[in-house]
Amino acid sequence: MARDNTDGTLLRGGSEYKQCLARAQAARQGHIFRWWDQLDAAGREKLLRQTASVDFQLVSDLAARHLGAGPEKFSGTIGLARVIPLPRTEEQFAERRRMAALGADAIARGEVALFIVAGGQGSRLKFDPPKGTFPICPITDKSLFHLFAEKLTATSRRCGVTIPLYIMTSTINNAATVEFFEINEYFGLGRENVMFVVQGMLPTLDASGKLILKRKDELFLSPNGHGGSITALKQGGALADMRRRGIRHISYHQVDNALVNSIDPVFIGYHVAAGAEMSLKVAQKRDAEEGLGVVGNVDGKLTVIEYSDLAPELMHTRRPDGSLLYGAGNIAIHILDVNFVERLNQAGSGLPWHVATKAVPFIDDSGKLVKPDKPNGIKFEMFVFDALPQAQAAVILESEREEEFAPVKNKHGQDSAATAKQALTNCYGRWLKQAGVEVPFDGEGNVDGKIEISPLFALDPEELAAKVSPDLKFTGELLLE
Ligand code: UTP
Repeated sequence: MARDNTDGTLLRGGSEYKQCLARAQAARQGHIFRWWDQLDAAGREKLLRQTASVDFQLVSDLAARHLGAGPEKFSGTIGLARVIPLPRTEEQFAERRRMAALGADAIARGEVALFIVAGGQGSRLKFDPPKGTFPICPITDKSLFHLFAEKLTATSRRCGVTIPLYIMTSTINNAATVEFFEINEYFGLGRENVMFVVQGMLPTLDASGKLILKRKDELFLSPNGHGGSITALKQGGALADMRRRGIRHISYHQVDNALVNSIDPVFIGYHVAAGAEMSLKVAQKRDAEEGLGVVGNVDGKLTVIEYSDLAPELMHTRRPDGSLLYGAGNIAIHILDVNFVERLNQAGSGLPWHVATKAVPFIDDSGKLVKPDKPNGIKFEMFVFDALPQAQAAVILESEREEEFAPVKNKHGQDSAATAKQALTNCYGRWLKQAGVEVPFDGEGNVDGKIEISPLFALDPEELAAKVSPDLKFTGELLLE
């Protein structure tokens, strides 16, 4: 028997190594094995495992297409999309109530699941653990995952049905995310009703198209974008699980929106009534430069144009009344039909790739780790909203951003944990005010103090009004659990 080492692992590594090296060299990426002789058995195993997962053909194609090309700015003609506006007339309010009833029926029939995408790197937040574990509740410091789980439990109880939860992670944070749910006993959702799917990863390239190594034995891999969820749902077995459970509609949101209405009967109602395959919520952009994609009509199809792809002159175009012409910002809350996701998978997801440049650590020619200040790495990502043009019918629903959108993106400043916590307090403050409770707001709509209302106490202002007395005194801090 041939032996190239006394260690069985390395024997296996020997033949695998030759194969992986040949594949890498054929793709002009042989440099990833330059430190091979210095690696121990575990390091070799790791590098081989990673290399085996790389689709070198895809990487070459992406490099050929995107390197040196600069960001592709969309500059074609964008027609206005039909957006269902916020209700203002009695008729519109009545329609929303009808839709809420329709949506509640679909939930009660067990046709709706929740899907949270949580595979991102969360680099701007500078918080190492998975973002969903971030303590967000203003008083109790409950995490984002805990808050979403309580919303799910409250909705399940209200509709008399078990709503399953699917979470997309990546190899970066899967183990820590699963462990967090384990430690917290799945927040009472039941382990059997929570499923994790792990998304695909892609190598990050330098400016010359070479794969970046972050250690001698490790490639710098990045998750393939939230658009990777389409194939991850299929490959991770979630679509099959949904079919078994009779799920037809997937309520999708990101892990970092503290105000999200995870399962919104109104939204589901509109989606079902229109026979839509994919729907999305929009909110008016804060300003022209806010990093939200905008919805428009391109070549007769509803399309989201990512903010980084929108030409500045279009981004800043205003109507005569001063409002932004392309002001309907995508707040990343969608409904996707199970059949639609299946269909997308038959076409290999069919989503286009986008390029992002980021500052990523790498090892230099002497093997030393360098942490650059400037972007040096080219990442490729798919965006889930690029599925929209493929939907045969779609609904775009306008939402009140103060009620539904508080992203936790940055460590400080706008869209940070501080602004999201304030947004939660303000939202609960408005609910209390509607219930007749006196709450002090400043001129900018901020409550001076902290308020936290658990979804298990009240899921919406109506439920709250039925439970609290207008005589309730707010003395600067109020927790309702
Ligand atoms: P962002 O684009 O805001 O990225 O993701 P991020 O990883 O959270 O943060 P930065 O850009 O590194 O600071 C929006 C949502 O999409 C998910 C994220 O977890 C978040 O819920 N996402 C993003 C994925 O699930 N996978 C990805 O590959 C990228």
